[in-house]
Order: sequence, then structure tokens, then C-alpha cells
Amino acid sequence: MAHEVRGVIARGKGEPVSVETVVVPDPGPGEALVQVRACGVCHTDLHYRDGGITDDFPFLLGHEAAGVVEAVGPDVTALAPGDFVILNWRAVCGQCRSCLRGRPWYCFDSRNAVQKMTLADGTELTPALGIGAFADKTLVAAGQCTKVDPAADPAAAGLLGCGVMAGIGAALNTGAVTRGDSVAVIGCGGVGDAAIAGARLAGAAKIIAVDIEDRKLEWAKDFGATHTVNSAKTDPVAAIRELTGGFGADVVIEAVGRPETYEQAFYARDLAGTLVLVGVPTPQMKIELPLLEVFGRGGALKSSWYGDCLPSRDFPMLIDLYLQGRLDLAAFVSETIALEEVEAAFDKMHRGEVLRSVVVL
Ligand code: APR
Ligand code: ZN
Ligand code: ZN
Repeated sequence: MAHEVRGVIARGKGEPVSVETVVVPDPGPGEALVQVRACGVCHTDLHYRDGGITDDFPFLLGHEAAGVVEAVGPDVTALAPGDFVILNWRAVCGQCRSCLRGRPWYCFDSRNAVQKMTLADGTELTPALGIGAFADKTLVAAGQCTKVDPAADPAAAGLLGCGVMAGIGAALNTGAVTRGDSVAVIGCGGVGDAAIAGARLAGAAKIIAVDIEDRKLEWAKDFGATHTVNSAKTDPVAAIRELTGGFGADVVIEAVGRPETYEQAFYARDLAGTLVLVGVPTPQMKIELPLLEVFGRGGALKSSWYGDCLPSRDFPMLIDLYLQGRLDLAAFVSETIALEEVEAAFDKMHRGEVLRSVVVL
């Protein structure tokens, strides 16, 4: 039996998205049918709409989601109808070289649902990041579902499925921030603020937030920034060094994805410090770094892919911290909206008015 539901579709490059009927098949082997409860609006959805990721239109957008399992395929034992889950981009195989070496986030054989969701006329849809959760229901690989405590508000929980996990993981996993560290975060959108929250969780003593907008710096304080620097008015490298006794921060997290901010992060790092790149650059972006500085400063230049997260390890743990009041996931939810308001949410995101707009179903 197929399910007819509403979904947010991007039909062509840059065209406004629209709510249309989507046909979702019953789950086959290895698959799960999920009733979406909430799904955050992310830059990646906008990039899909604008043709910046692939040309496989039409897309079913949405990928930062939490929901309730409605049905599972015949061979699925790890999940059951009624489970409250957070969705992740790809189910890892557990057996490839990366998985076996303990780096499942670089899995070579990760999976999404095999069956296709379609428009009413049978046109196959490409689900954003293998999820497609701006819809009443979606079909995913069972391994894309991670069970978490159902006491969590879906709007807050779903955010762990993408941007907020990327930021928290950049601090906790990639940057390995530890108690007493000084941390600087460049770019205080949803991802940067999540990195700040992660640094606070890890016990960082000093958390320096850098942005070009005062409004963003005010929000950053709510997540744990102890100092703020407006880099449109002040040289951020000099400011970070001054705030760290002349040295630079132990961990600098770049959460913008631009050459100039990467360069600032490079120079704002203490000797033997760590630079974490979590902002996503475009293919054209390049930087030039003096090799002697790379050598002389030591430490590590790292990129953080999806916060180097392991959903089965990190999602339940972070939901528990949230339910204990130690991680304010709800603070990332700037507004809750309906499916019809996704296009308007893209505009708000573009204008920097929100951390996250979240579709609630
Ligand atoms: N210096 C400092 N901050 C900057 C600069 C700059 N030159 N340019 C932009 N910013 C700030 C913006 O003011 C904004 O607060 O960076 C922040 C970016 O936040 P968002 O646009 O909300 O993006 P976010 O969702 O946080 O993602 C940031 O991480 O995962 C990636 O694809 C994502 O590349 C994007 C980045
Ligand atoms: Zn995303
Ligand atoms: Zn694998």
C-alpha cells in the first residue's frame, strides 16, 4: 500500500518550492516508514533548490528531522512502530574499511532507502540528503533512524540530524575540546552557536564568539560565549590573541566556510592548537598559507564532516543532556512553521533573521 502525503518539492533551479502530493511506498527490506513530526530548514535545502548540489530535480526537500516510526520492512528488527527517532543522512554499513577502522562517518557503502518516493504522476523524487522530510511521511533506510527518548520535543530533537550536530560535533568530536580550553568560534549561525554549546559542554574556560553582526553575537552569549568580537569592526586575530594572553585559542572553529575566515582561524590558533573547519566552502575557494607558519605553529588543521558524529552514540547522549537541562536545543528553534512556509523561511535564513525555522507536522 502506498501512502499519499504532502511534501515540499523543488522542481527546477531557483524556482520557488511548492507543496505537492507525494506517494510514499510501504517499507521494503531494510527500510522504515517514518511519520515526520518536525524538520528544520537548512542551507543545504536551499542549495538543492538552487541546483548547487545535483541536477536531479525534482527534489523532496528537508533533512533535519525527528519522527515516529509507522512501519518497518520485513527483516528490520532494530526498530519498531512507535519508536521516536532522529533521522541521519546515511545508514553506515559497519563493514567497509572506514567503518572497521572506527571512522563510520567516512563509510564507503552507506545506504538510503532503495524504493523511490514519487509525485502523483509517478515522477521519481530525489530526497534531500537521502531523507526528504518536509513531508507528512518519508521512507528511509532503517539504519538512518536513531531511537532517542520520546520525551524530547521533536522540533528541538530533529535539529541534531544536521546543523546542530555538525556544530556540537566540531567542538566535541573533531576539536576534542577539553576542560579549561580556550575556544574561538568564527561565524555564529546555527552551526557556530552549536559549536559554542559543545565547547561549554566540554568545559571550555573561555569561549570567544566572532561574527560580523552584533545581533548574532548577542545570541551567541545565550549558548555560552564568554567573550564576543565583531570582526567587521575589530581585527579578530588580534582580539582573540589579546583575550588569550597573547597566544591564541587552543581550538578555533571556523563555521562560515570562507577563505578569509579560514585564514583568520589559522592565525588565531595557539601554538600546537587545533583549527576545525565545519563551514562548507564552494569548489572554487582557495587559500594560500605560508608553509613555514603551518610547520612552525604545529597542531592540527582538521575538517569536521557532519561533526564526525556517530548517530547511535551521539544522538541519544545529546538528547539526554537536553532533557537534563544541560544543552538548550530548544534555543536553536527561532520559529515553528507549516510546510507551506518553507519558501518564506528560506528568505528569513538568507537575511540572517533566524537560527533555525522548523516545520512542525
Ligand atoms: N566573519 C564572521 N562571521 C561571518 C562572516 C565573516 N566574514 N560572514 C558571515 N558570517 C556569519 C553570519 O553573520 C552568520 O551569523 O556567519 C554566520 C553563518 O551562519 P548561517 O548563515 O546561519 O549558517 P549556519 O547554518 O550556521 O552554517 C554555517 O556551516 O555547515 C556549514 O553549510 C554550512 O557553510 C555553512 C556554515
Ligand atoms: Zn542540513
Ligand atoms: Zn561502511
